[in-house]
Amino acid sequence: MKRNDFCWCGSGKKYKKCHLQYDEKIDSMKFVKKKNQARPPHKIINNAADIEGIKRAAVINGGALDLAGELVKEGVSTLEINDAIHEFIVSHGAHPSCLGFEGFPKSICISVNDVVCHGIPSKKEILKEGDILNIDITTDLNGYFADASRMFSVGKISEEAERLIRVTREIMEVGILAAQPWHFVGDIGAACGKYAHDNGYSVVTALGGHGVGKEFHLEPFVSHDCAAETGMLLVPGMVLTVEPMINAGEEKVFTDAADGWTVFTADGSLSAQWEKTVLITEKGNEVLAY
Ligand code: MF3
Ligand code: CO
Ligand code: CO
Repeated sequence: MKRNDFCWCGSGKKYKKCHLQYDEKIDSMKFVKKKNQARPPHKIINNAADIEGIKRAAVINGGALDLAGELVKEGVSTLEINDAIHEFIVSHGAHPSCLGFEGFPKSICISVNDVVCHGIPSKKEILKEGDILNIDITTDLNGYFADASRMFSVGKISEEAERLIRVTREIMEVGILAAQPWHFVGDIGAACGKYAHDNGYSVVTALGGHGVGKEFHLEPFVSHDCAAETGMLLVPGMVLTVEPMINAGEEKVFTDAADGWTVFTADGSLSAQWEKTVLITEKGNEVLAY
C-alpha cells in the first residue's frame, strides 16, 4: 500500500494519515514464535464508523440485559425470558444473533447453576429461589455485533453462590484491565487465571472469548487462563470479548449429548460468567457492551 492510497481500514483517509505509522510499528516488532505471538489481521481492525456501528448494537443489547434483570423471578420459565427479550431486540430493528447461529434454537443463552454456558431457554425450566443464572445476549444491527452477559439470582442465594458471582465479575474486570494496546491477548488470560486461582476457583479453558464486531466470532480466541505475553498482539481498533467462565469446583465440563449445546460442570459444581465487549484504544480500552 502506498502513502497516498486510501487506507486499508476503510476510513476513507489516505494511508499516510491513517494506519501507516501503525503498520511501521508492527513491522518493527519481533514476534516470538514459541509464545505464539502473532500480528493481527486487517479484517479484525475496526475504523471509527465500525465502532459507531458496534456501539449502536450495544445500546440495544444493554437494554435487553436490563430487561432480563427485571424478568428474573421465582416461577418464571427461561423460555418466557427468551421470548420477551426476542421481542425487545426485534422491536428495536435488530436481530438476536444467537438465534439460528450454528443451529442454536433460541434467541439468547440462559445458563442456570451448574450450566457453564449455552443453556437453551425452555418452558420446562422454571426459576426457583436460590438459583443463579447467566444470561448471555448478542445483538446484531446493520451488520455489527455486540456481545455481553451478566449474572442474576433468584431470591435468597447461598453465600457461596454470592461469592462466586462477585469474584467472577472481578475476574472479568482484571482481564479487561490487562487488555492494553501493544500488549498480548495472553495477558488477559494470565490476569484472569491468577485472580481465579488465588480465590480458589477453576477457569474453564475449553471455551473462551473472541474477537467480535463485523462478525459474531472472530480471531483471536481469548483464553481466560494462560501464559502472559502469548498469542495475538492487541492493537487499537481491535474489539474482543472478555467472558471468563469460572467453576466453584473442577474445571472439567461436558456438553449435553441430547441437545448438543448445554455445557455443564462435570462435577455438578456451580459455574458463573460475566461478559463485556471491549475496544482496544490508543490509550487503553473502552467497554462497548456490558
Ligand atoms: N454469546 C456467546 C458468546 O459469548 C455465544 C453463544 S453462541 C450460541 O460467545 F449459539 F450458543 F448462541
Ligand atoms: Co456472549
Ligand atoms: Co462472547
